[in-house]
Amino acid sequence: MRKLTLEEKVKESTIKIVLVGCGGISRAWVKPLLERKDTVLSGLVDINRQAAEKLASQFNLGAVPIATDLAGLLKTVKPDVVFDCTTPESHYAVAMTAFRHGCHVLAEKPMADTLAHARTLVETAGKKRKVYAVIQNRRYSRWIRGIVRLVRSKKLGTLTTLTSDFFIGAHFGGFRDHMKHVLLLDMAIHTFDAARFISGADPVSVFCREWNPAGSWYDHDACAIALFEMSGSLIYSYRGSWCAEGMNTSWESTWRLVGTRGSALWDGGSNCQAERVKGKTGFKREIEKVAVDFSDIPGLLEGHAGLIDEFLNCVRRGKKPLTAGEDNIKSLAMVLAAIESSQKNKPVKVNW
Ligand SMILES: NC(=O)c1ccc[n+]([C@@H]2O[C@H](COP(=O)([O-])OP(=O)(O)OC[C@H]3O[C@@H](n4cnc5c(N)ncnc54)[C@H](O)[C@@H]3O)[C@@H](O)[C@H]2O)c1
Repeated sequence: MRKLTLEEKVKESTIKIVLVGCGGISRAWVKPLLERKDTVLSGLVDINRQAAEKLASQFNLGAVPIATDLAGLLKTVKPDVVFDCTTPESHYAVAMTAFRHGCHVLAEKPMADTLAHARTLVETAGKKRKVYAVIQNRRYSRWIRGIVRLVRSKKLGTLTTLTSDFFIGAHFGGFRDHMKHVLLLDMAIHTFDAARFISGADPVSVFCREWNPAGSWYDHDACAIALFEMSGSLIYSYRGSWCAEGMNTSWESTWRLVGTRGSALWDGGSNCQAERVKGKTGFKREIEKVAVDFSDIPGLLEGHAGLIDEFLNCVRRGKKPLTAGEDNIKSLAMVLAAIESSQKNKPVKVNW
């Protein structure tokens, strides 16, 4: 067998990872990580030491180093990658600390609390030549890939109108109950990102209204309606609530896609019905069914496992992941512009 060059050996060697923020979502990261042979979990960090200890014990991580100070652990462990599963207001500081210590970063959404912070993160990752990406796990499902395939096939013509409905009665307890703009910041980022992924369009402007209805168990606005103008004159409308009891949608939302020649209704999962115009005469033109191809994308791992896999491949090969910070900043910009519009009670431009 041919001997590996030094460069090849480095590329194929084990990637050392430190995970920061050992709360609820960290379980979705550790599980796929432990199933891989090409990585080692070299440290856990949490400002609450007990949270890290609990995670280590739940997954039998043995003598994995545990710390409450990220910078200190990075100095001693010298990992290649930092996984950031902390709460949104900590994402900027965690990623900047990781970049200062020469690490690549994969972070939970949303990428930062402000656009200025997000821009600095993208710039810093670029300057330091580090792979930097944000978890938008809902892009890693064969269902959304099938919808993207449908749009790109032009079977419905050119997409002109996109709507999404997100209605879930979510009783989290914890930080979300007290968070401002909780629906837009913590959840709508997924839906807005999916709208960009499905349409392939960039946001231009938005008019949004947030509110906290009677009966809500959140301290701040947990409902929003937003109307986006996207590039190519596409209109995207969003309706969402995190305090709607009954008749809940999927976490992926329910969608209507309208193109110049046809439409599709998609439940965010395996159910999509599509039709397009066939006839040329009549008040309502004759229509025909359009088959939607949800067959597996070869090699696609789903959810967090899929994103982590792509990210680690990009670290090895120096490539950009699908959800690289420089692209994901557009989804964050949609969220922040929607909040600004709601506060000003007028349409605003979406800048990033
Ligand atoms: N992608 C998804 O589907 C998905 C789902 C749930 C949560 N999330 C995101 O994951 C993040 C965490 O959510 P969660 O539900 O796990 O929250 P959580 O409160 O359960 O856990 C967060 C943990 O981070 C720790 N922490 C906070 N700031 C820190 C810092 N500066 N340094 C070290 N540790 C710190 C906290 O002590 C806590 O243990 C949020 O950004 C959330 O939006 C994403």
